[in-house]
Amino acid sequence: MPKFAYINKRFVDFKNANIHIEDRGLQFADSVYEVIAVVNNKLIDLDFHLKRLRYSLNELKINYIFKNNSLNKIFLELIKKNKTSNGIIYLQITRGIQYREHKYENKLIPTLIIYTRDKKFNLPGKNYKGVNTITFEDLRWKRRDIKTVNLLPNIIAANKAKQMKAYEAILIQNGKVTEGTSSNIWIIKKNNLITHPANSDILKGVTRTSLLKIIKKTSLNLIEKSFTHKQLLEADEVFLTSSGSFITPILKIDKKKINNGKIGNITLKLAEMYSKSCMHG
Ligand code: PDD
Repeated sequence: MPKFAYINKRFVDFKNANIHIEDRGLQFADSVYEVIAVVNNKLIDLDFHLKRLRYSLNELKINYIFKNNSLNKIFLELIKKNKTSNGIIYLQITRGIQYREHKYENKLIPTLIIYTRDKKFNLPGKNYKGVNTITFEDLRWKRRDIKTVNLLPNIIAANKAKQMKAYEAILIQNGKVTEGTSSNIWIIKKNNLITHPANSDILKGVTRTSLLKIIKKTSLNLIEKSFTHKQLLEADEVFLTSSGSFITPILKIDKKKINNGKIGNITLKLAEMYSKSCMHG
């Protein structure tokens, strides 16, 4: 368990880090969040995370104003205090506290919550592993581009994956793949690398954005276009990306093995390039 959390303007004992029972984040999921990876004390893709945080806040008109530098300072202080050299920073901003009423008042003071958790990452090297997945119907709302804590459909699908001893559920909408419950999905067919376009049907993943920059340096043909459940199962290689999993190969989808259940060469190469550029660059 971490020692400290940061609530509103103060570092507090993690065990006593509380929020009000009428916080709208608790009652309505009226709240946005970010998960930022920390590898060897380095904050991965921080600028992209803060840019997306501003976007989410702005789309929901949550009135939280911040300077990148001030948040960065709190993050660094917290990973130092908690000794989280490898793990994640969780940040959540709620609209604030109000008597329970769907309509909100304009002048609420947002609640800021930040804490860290240790985590071991799946990085290319001796212990690099691929995962099994399932497919599941995408039950979510129409604004998945906003990173809100309104995650019940994701949780239902993720828990189904857990029951099936799978790592992730790949969400299907009208026969097409949108994304994972907490990841973006990519397929490789010959020299084509295909992923869903960043519109309101998916979350524009930070790892996705970062990887797109790296792909420009390869000879892969990038296609940002939605693909079908059938294309998913017939792909040469499949992988997922997220701040918690970076680039993780998918070896099985439901009962179908991908690439004979082995990590594909292109996926491995991309994972190596990603860790070199984001973690050691
Ligand atoms: N989830 N899609 C969804 C629905 C997600 O929740 C996430 C991340 C991603 C990948 O985004 P990024 O590369 O920025 O992490 C895609 C985080 C890790 C979580 O909820 O824990």
